[in-house]
Amino acid sequence: MKYLESCIDETLRKYPVVPLLTRECVKDYKLPGTDKIIEKGTEILIPAFALQRDEKYYEEPDKFIPERFNEQNSIGKNLTNRPYLPFGEGPRNCIGLRLGKMQTKVGLVLMLQKFRFELEERLKKNEMVFDPKVFFLSPLGGIKLHIIKR
Ligand code: HEM
Repeated sequence: MKYLESCIDETLRKYPVVPLLTRECVKDYKLPGTDKIIEKGTEILIPAFALQRDEKYYEEPDKFIPERFNEQNSIGKNLTNRPYLPFGEGPRNCIGLRLGKMQTKVGLVLMLQKFRFELEERLKKNEMVFDPKVFFLSPLGGIKLHIIKR
């Protein structure tokens, strides 16, 4: 079950459903290590997608490597120097984190017991292209799968 968890974690790193998080600054805040001040009332956009695909934090960021999230692996999702924000962060992060992950696991286990899923050729060869008109991360043209009974 742990490897399934790592696969879900890595999927949400590569494809955070909410690619940009939003906040409003509630008091003047000096960015540590700089002389920049974010003023009270400033609207903030936090680029979760860009941070999670930045090679400064994740080696070979476009590769799907679930082992990044193995407990034994030093590249854990909880290391503070590695942004991992698919469920946001702080007191207003996703309230459904555990339910969302549990539903995903139950759904995958039930489906994978009976079927094999094969990706369409287009996506086997190319990186996914996202629909620029949709705020939530959505594949342009959808994802077609071949479903084969086991
Ligand atoms: C894989 C599934 C899910 C993902 C990736 C996801 C992602 C997110 C993200 C990124 C946020 C914004 C957090 C922030 O700004 O820091 C959020 C907020 C929220 N999510 Fe989810 N979510 C998921 C499932 C769910 C489920 C199952 C529920 C409810 C049963 C839920 C309820 C909420 C609520 C109520 C908020 C607003 C929390 C607040 O503003 O205090 N989410 N979610």
